[in-house]
Amino acid sequence: MLIKKPADIRSYEITPEHVYRSRRAFMQSMAVAAGAAAAGISLRSEANYPDVSSYPAPDWLRKHVHDAKPGPFGTDEDVTPYIYASRYNNFYEFGMDKEDPAEHAEAMVTDPWSVEVSGACENGGTFAYEDIIKAHALEERIYRLRCVEAWSMVIPWIGLPLGDLLKRFKPLSSAKFVEFTTLYAPDQMPGQRSYFSAIDYPYVEGLRMDEAMHPLAIMAVGMYGDVIPPQNGAPMRLVVPWKYGFKSIKSIVAIRFTAREPMTTWEKQAPNEYGFYANVNPEVDHPRWSQKTERRLPSSLFSPNRIDTRLFNGYAEEVAHLYSGMNLRRYF
Ligand code: MTE
Repeated sequence: MLIKKPADIRSYEITPEHVYRSRRAFMQSMAVAAGAAAAGISLRSEANYPDVSSYPAPDWLRKHVHDAKPGPFGTDEDVTPYIYASRYNNFYEFGMDKEDPAEHAEAMVTDPWSVEVSGACENGGTFAYEDIIKAHALEERIYRLRCVEAWSMVIPWIGLPLGDLLKRFKPLSSAKFVEFTTLYAPDQMPGQRSYFSAIDYPYVEGLRMDEAMHPLAIMAVGMYGDVIPPQNGAPMRLVVPWKYGFKSIKSIVAIRFTAREPMTTWEKQAPNEYGFYANVNPEVDHPRWSQKTERRLPSSLFSPNRIDTRLFNGYAEEVAHLYSGMNLRRYF
């Protein structure tokens, strides 16, 4: 059953104490999770993520997600309460307000689902979702998510290394970039049929091949110990934690290997504001606002919870080498 938000208050303004787990409780739950994993027990437990809504999903997927094991690159920062991660979203296909995706995305049909793989690769074709995902063991990755709008969260995703998935399609040496496309279904996605639509659909994103193959980049199919909700990009979405959130494209239906840098949705929309690289960088401001700090959710007017933004969202040690010698102001 889904959590219904109280009618009188916006869900992300609910007093944090109701839902906020202390660092100690979080550390304890992670210790429990690590112990459970060592003992071969599922990460999914009421104790780990108590307030999670269960969305409809095929049995095999739910079981596969529940069998995920803790993965590398974790953080000891507080995990953002689920209600924020699942109710304060950007998924413009379902509307521009933060609560629109949670309200409208449930109608999106995510089963059956298939992905078309094309371009510079040996094993292209159309693949059923199950055939794509089932072959991979899943891991939990607790990552910071930094939106270009200067808010951030810490989200426990469940997914598989993107590189492991892409290798199965045998990219050719001519493949220098990989492009991803979101579902185009105006009948299911009100934002796509709106006359006031801010962007040109379908939503397209891309990565350089070496970025896509980096072990931090994942294809997520779950979060908070369960199957990923529609508003967060069911049934599969990218998570590229060192880049602004808009690179982490949702509900992917196509993957294309290319020799040329793909033209991405936000770059096409406002090339002076959103670049192809979109690496989190406190030294390179957005033309209309500073990127030096961010609001770590939960935050409110009286308790803004503003923290310093870190280069590559705190993953510099892992990814800075990908950009050595590059002018990060020019390639923003
Ligand atoms: N993918 C699609 N297809 N459409 C979108 O509007 N928004 C992006 C990204 N992926 C978006 C998308 C932006 S701006 C952000 S910050 C993240 O999704 C937000 O992910 P979340 O809602 O799971 O926190």
